[in-house]
Amino acid sequence: MLSRLKPDITIDIKSGLHAGLADLLSCRLGRPLRSLRMLPPFLSRLLSRIDAMVAAWCLARSHNVADLRRWARFRVPAPMFHFMDGAADDEVTLARSQSDFARYEFLPRYLVDVSNVDTSTTIMGAPIDFPVVLAPTGMSRLFNNAGELAVARAAAEAGTSYALSTVGTYSIEQVAEVCSGPKWFQLYVFRDRTLVNEFMDRCRAARFHALCLTIDVPIVGNRERDLRTGFGFPPQLSVASWLDFFLHPLWSLKYLDGEPFQLANVAHKAPPGDAELTTLVDYVSSQYDPSVDWDAAAWMVEQWQGPFAIKGIASVEDALRAADIGANAVILSNHGGRQLDGAASSISLLADVKQAVGERVEVILDGGVRRGSDVIKALALGAQACMIGRPYLFGLGVGGEAGVAHVLALLRAEIERDMALLGVTRIEQITSDYVRERR
Ligand SMILES: Cc1cc2nc3c(=O)[nH]c(=O)nc-3n(C[C@H](O)[C@H](O)[C@H](O)COP(=O)(O)O)c2cc1C
Repeated sequence: MLSRLKPDITIDIKSGLHAGLADLLSCRLGRPLRSLRMLPPFLSRLLSRIDAMVAAWCLARSHNVADLRRWARFRVPAPMFHFMDGAADDEVTLARSQSDFARYEFLPRYLVDVSNVDTSTTIMGAPIDFPVVLAPTGMSRLFNNAGELAVARAAAEAGTSYALSTVGTYSIEQVAEVCSGPKWFQLYVFRDRTLVNEFMDRCRAARFHALCLTIDVPIVGNRERDLRTGFGFPPQLSVASWLDFFLHPLWSLKYLDGEPFQLANVAHKAPPGDAELTTLVDYVSSQYDPSVDWDAAAWMVEQWQGPFAIKGIASVEDALRAADIGANAVILSNHGGRQLDGAASSISLLADVKQAVGERVEVILDGGVRRGSDVIKALALGAQACMIGRPYLFGLGVGGEAGVAHVLALLRAEIERDMALLGVTRIEQITSDYVRERR
């Protein structure tokens, strides 16, 4: 039976025949290996040391997001890398989401005092040090054992917000413990509304700032790279994929040496005595409801009574509906090109959406941001801030928390430098006067 772990993964839950990675991930193999204390403590420490040294070597050679992507391919086994890097069908939307930024060019002003550039701004009422928010991405522990904790720590340290995914491998409470910054929680409209209420209660208790409802996954996009590598639950790994685990011994050993892989936010929903990942996957899959509509979204806005963003807005009409039901922000997004291939890039929609919604909601651009200059173009066209997904995952894959911190520092430095070169010193000065569509 084909089912879904989350809208991001197609899985063959019931085949049950393929041991391999599913067992590794669901700990059937990992647990016995761990109980044998496969790595004695001193070897475990040595492994972490070597891993940190390799990470530092790669990070020192990463001068932009594209460099980090290359090093992530070097550090992370192919099935995980392609799950992170890939998109739907021919990946046209993924490519255009990046290349469409080149459709806009800057009109800089000179002889302006740019000795002090301030990148700080606010998003849904919370101050952030620069206009880049970390998008929700499920199962981050696939890329580095520290997973969402590393991402949350790096975001807080850099002074910005992180949106934890429902299908994170660390829980709402664990993330709250390590992240003092303004946190968001991303969720879907689940069949069981008590589950949605439970998430909201936990977020309130853990002092999350905002909720982010993802709406662009009524069904799953077709990710062909995952079919080729055999990534899924359970996986159908190709020989090449298996080999790749052996070619990435640091990742593989660290994975086995780490905590068991969990869908931490729903772990308590497993039947007693059955904490296998596939059971949880089954549970989460059963919760996706392809019949949800705007009434369900409106119900959630009403229940939360706090800052609320709707992610997956890909048309002017939906942006207006989101404003009508009382959302505080719309996130223009095509899910990183992982859902409907051929959907418009967010940057190409931005000006029209901003013109339609005006000041009723904040507009956040998500998808394809790889440079500080992309962020400035988005702000000039009306965005309040941008979200990034893959860029920080590349950093996570290369060097855990240090890797995420590295990518955030690079983007912030690029924003600062480009603001000075553009002739602006504060975020609110970045207006449409500074960009035009290429002629
Ligand atoms: C590996 C991966 C997992 C993702 N998981 C989620 C998720 O759980 N929920 C969600 O709303 N979006 C998810 N997304 C989409 C991101 O939030 C974001 O929209 C996208 O990555 C932005 O495009 P970019 O990668 O070009 O920055 C995921 C993206 C990736 C790459």
